[in-house]
Amino acid sequence: MLSLCVLFVLFSASASFRPDVTIDSHELFDRCLDGENHKRKPGPEDALHGHCSPWVNRSCCTEDTAQLIHHGVLYNFDWDHCKNVKNMSDECRKHFNWDHCFFECSPNVGPWLVKIPDMKTRNESYFEVPLCANECDSWFEACKNDYTCTDNWLKNFEWKKVGRNKKRTNVCPAESTCKTFKEIYQTADNFCERVWDHSWKYTSNDQPCMKMWFDGPENPNDDVARWKIQVMYDDDTTSPNNSQVQLLGQYCKTNF
Ligand SMILES: *[C@@H]1O[C@H](CO)[C@@H](O)[C@H](O)[C@H]1NC(C)=O
Ligand SMILES: *[C@@H]1O[C@H](CO)[C@@H](O)[C@H](O)[C@H]1NC(C)=O
Ligand SMILES: *[C@@H]1O[C@H](CO)[C@@H](O)[C@H](O)[C@H]1NC(C)=O
Ligand SMILES: *[C@@H]1O[C@H](CO)[C@@H](O)[C@H](O)[C@H]1NC(C)=O
Repeated sequence: MLSLCVLFVLFSASASFRPDVTIDSHELFDRCLDGENHKRKPGPEDALHGHCSPWVNRSCCTEDTAQLIHHGVLYNFDWDHCKNVKNMSDECRKHFNWDHCFFECSPNVGPWLVKIPDMKTRNESYFEVPLCANECDSWFEACKNDYTCTDNWLKNFEWKKVGRNKKRTNVCPAESTCKTFKEIYQTADNFCERVWDHSWKYTSNDQPCMKMWFDGPENPNDDVARWKIQVMYDDDTTSPNNSQVQLLGQYCKTNF
């Protein structure tokens, strides 16, 4: 059944199928980011501590990683880097936790993965994954009155050993000033796209797009990954066609 589906993906793109394409579409679908905390392949977990629970049935993160996200200590990233003005609000933090669960646990980013050369914690990054506009809007809404000192959280922080435990943590760059998200980013799309250096792409809700959080039993992002894989095999597909996505989704649901 599995091979049937892969064949379907290939043949549906047969008009422009080029023999030099060597990526196996199933590989792309069943893929985890190459990073120090990610599993090699997606698979089931027991509970993910309730915290990254949407992903329990097919996850790239382990229980331990979910636990570390829950306690806000993964990578020793300081969300309260503007604590001299105000710590991050709980509501904003909730959205960043969802985003973080997505980063560690999502099995759907395969088609957007790119190699990155010089990061200690991972060899890959995802680039311009379509994030549904309403997801981004509510994230920005929750954070707009919180404070930060730089727009690009992946590139612009300095990492220094601070505090008693002497672990390296992110601190505001010299010469920077803590301002509200609203002042730094102005708009939701600007925020979602810049905060993690274009990992996300703000995408209209009527296009195939990812949800950062969902209630089971289906992962709605599976179909978005299938759509993208199909597009990658078909250069002629210039605009996404939702009925095609659904068709492919239905066809592959039991097979992938
Ligand atoms: C990056 O790739 C190298 C070579 O495959 C591997 O040894 C290393 O563990 C990877 N690093 C991470 C953080 O996954
Ligand atoms: C802000 O967060 C830090 C930990 O990041 C904590 O030690 C401090 O008590 C918090 N400050 C306030 C005012 O809640
Ligand atoms: C996991 O799969 C089971 C069995 O198919 C289903 O009942 C449950 O709702 C799923 N859970 C989630 C969070 O997707
Ligand atoms: C979308 O795909 C369906 C099924 O392949 C096709 O019938 C329909 O004409 C397409 N619509 C557009 C706007 O391309």
